[in-house]
Amino acid sequence: GAPVRVDVSRIEPGAMVTVEWRGKPVWVLRRTRQNLETLRQPSLLQELRDPDSEINQQPEYARNHYRSIREDILVAMAVCTHLGCIPGYYPQGRDDVEHALYYCPCHGSKFDLAGRVFKNVPAPTNLVIPPHQYLDTDVVEIG
Ligand code: FES
Repeated sequence: GAPVRVDVSRIEPGAMVTVEWRGKPVWVLRRTRQNLETLRQPSLLQELRDPDSEINQQPEYARNHYRSIREDILVAMAVCTHLGCIPGYYPQGRDDVEHALYYCPCHGSKFDLAGRVFKNVPAPTNLVIPPHQYLDTDVVEIG
């Protein structure tokens, strides 16, 4: 499939767009300052199965705390690593999770806003971060 370009300057903090790459949905989420703080909280990290992204689910350049190149921008495959459903985005949290997260409606897997999977859910690994690069400050190319 051809690479897909997204101008992230058009995405408000807290908002997300979904694009299609190789027939699959990809999220481009612009995280808020609060989101980024949450991603560093020990109380969140201890709930994650692979908080340091040790399993190879991302390019090497996205193997960092936010699993991204630009701190505020998450680029992730919108494909649950359990059986491939599309998780939903819950910017206000839901049920027992008070901060923003992704929740898969099929069997209840939960992921944080870096696509890191929670413990005790069916999905075995973090969401996949597809190959991507920035053509300039605001234009990201996926693929
Ligand atoms: Fe997402 Fe099963 S496909 S939890």
